[in-house]
Amino acid sequence: MSRTMLGRFGVFCTLLAVALQVCLASVNVTVTPKVEVIKGETAKLPCSYTISNPTSNVVVQWYIEVSGARKQIAYKSSQGFDVEAGTPLSDRLTIGEDFSISISPVIVDDERSYFCQVTAGPLGVSDAETQVKVFFAPEKPVITGNSQAITVSHESTSSSEVGKCTSRNAYPKHRIIWFKDDNPLPAENIQKEKTYMIPSLVTEASGLFTITSTLYMQPVKTDAKSVFHCTVEYFMPENKTLHQNSDKFNLSLLYSTEKVDFKLKNQGPIKEGDDVEMVCETDGNPQPEFEFTKEDSPLNGQKGTLHLKSVTRNDMGTYKCDAQDFDALPGVELTKTLHLSVHYIDPMEVIPAGPLLVSKGDVVELLCKTKSSDAHTVHWTKDSKPVMNSGVLIIQEVTLAQAGVYICVGAVPSVPGLQKQANVTLNVRGVPEIDASRDVSVTKVGEMVTLNCSALGYPPSQFTWKPSGKESVTVVGNRVISTVTLEATAAVLANGVMCEAYNDHGKNSRHFKVSIKSDAEQGANSNDANRENPVFKTAEKQQGGSSAVVIAVVVCVLLLLILVALLFFLSKKGKLSCGKKDKKDVASEEVKGGIVVEMKSSEKGNEESGLLNKPHA
Ligand SMILES: *[C@@H]1O[C@H](CO)[C@@H](O)[C@H](O)[C@H]1NC(C)=O
Ligand SMILES: *[C@@H]1O[C@H](CO)[C@@H](O)[C@H](O)[C@H]1NC(C)=O
Repeated sequence: MSRTMLGRFGVFCTLLAVALQVCLASVNVTVTPKVEVIKGETAKLPCSYTISNPTSNVVVQWYIEVSGARKQIAYKSSQGFDVEAGTPLSDRLTIGEDFSISISPVIVDDERSYFCQVTAGPLGVSDAETQVKVFFAPEKPVITGNSQAITVSHESTSSSEVGKCTSRNAYPKHRIIWFKDDNPLPAENIQKEKTYMIPSLVTEASGLFTITSTLYMQPVKTDAKSVFHCTVEYFMPENKTLHQNSDKFNLSLLYSTEKVDFKLKNQGPIKEGDDVEMVCETDGNPQPEFEFTKEDSPLNGQKGTLHLKSVTRNDMGTYKCDAQDFDALPGVELTKTLHLSVHYIDPMEVIPAGPLLVSKGDVVELLCKTKSSDAHTVHWTKDSKPVMNSGVLIIQEVTLAQAGVYICVGAVPSVPGLQKQANVTLNVRGVPEIDASRDVSVTKVGEMVTLNCSALGYPPSQFTWKPSGKESVTVVGNRVISTVTLEATAAVLANGVMCEAYNDHGKNSRHFKVSIKSDAEQGANSNDANRENPVFKTAEKQQGGSSAVVIAVVVCVLLLLILVALLFFLSKKGKLSCGKKDKKDVASEEVKGGIVVEMKSSEKGNEESGLLNKPHA
């Protein structure tokens, strides 16, 4: 064999030996290929291995790569474990019993590859790589530089800065998306476009990123109604993509008037006395100054509003609003007009004017009329009741009761609330006419009674009471009412009280009866203590009105009752042989009724005889 052949064989053998060694070496290292961790938290990098033959001589080493070269950061052997000093991780690294390492707290720079290498003496060496990914959520994006007003110009071709959106401290890199009315604006950083964004990125000392995006636009008028905001899109572990919105903002745009609007604020037709408000507005921003005129005379408006207090028909006419927008394009109509109509009704005129004085039985004719801007109605009322549905009121043969205040109302039905009224007092001359009134009763002699005497007639009645008492007079409508309070003496109870009403034309009088209320009425029939009982009243009248007599009558009635009961009893036992059936009916009816007096009270005239007849039956 030649030297070269020998040499070749030697190389072959060496290669074979190496290959054999590699194949036989059975050290197997297992790590987590990717560890995701939030900055500031703890990253745990596990490492485990298997070897074919047990050997005590196992060394586990952790490396990082620094400028292309591996640098050991920690190792572990049967002799113990150690964290390498002088690496960026030295202070934050711990080694677990199970060959894992923990980094805490994690910083942005910890994002790199970590190698776990296991050397098992003759069995060989093996390693595995773990990639650490660091994440950090940014702060809520903040809008700045959006406060300046932007002029919307018809000629301008350059875009204006609309706002800046800044999102601080994210890792990995995040991005900003702009929105107008919740629709994303296409990302565009070419300044030739009308809308574009200029992004900028800053790496903070912490390694976190801060991005800013400045939005440029050529706003149009309608953008004033739009709402803008930005959103930051960022990444978190487990392939999550998250978003966070900035506050929303409006553009403050300045643009000139294209249209003027001049309107009446009032609803419905305007009548005299109303307050009127007219508003002039443009579609420009800001609102210009306004000048108001009516038939060329200037008026005082406030910020586009013209107030007219309590208008009259003289305020009717054409009003003009002039918007003083000097930036408006030529041809824009800056003046608007408005016609104001004021509806009215004149005061009601009554012919003849009151107060009127006529005699009872006369014919009365009243005419009420007015003028108004629109069709109107007229009607008459008296004491809140309608008396005539037109302006002409004719009363044939007027009575005293028809005296009083007549109100004439004029109204314009087409204008709610537009009405006027006038009144006239009608006095009817005549002898006083006294109204019917009730008699009164007292519980005992000497009590005070109050009587009212109400009289029609003109001139107003004066009154005389007999006997006299404490008197007072009130006037209610066309009536004069005299009230007297006096003592119900025996004489008063016997003769009653007389009211006399008189005036220039004569007099009239009325008699009041004053009676005593019965005990039965006050006791048994106490439900209506004031009710008059005819039984006792007639008895009282017959016997001279003394209360002793009343008591006697009551005793009498009771005795009669007992007698009737006795008769009934006897007839039932057969001891009395006459008119069995009739008597039975009478008696049972009375017993059942319980109150004989009540039964009798229905018949005024027959009561005494009725009571007296019964025992004879
Ligand atoms: C933007 O403007 C509109 C209309 O002018 C208004 O209703 C809205 O409240 C404003 N929004 C913000 C966030 O200012
Ligand atoms: C009648 O008219 C007078 C004067 O207009 C007014 O003062 C008075 O209140 C009116 N009376 C009634 C009952 O309407």
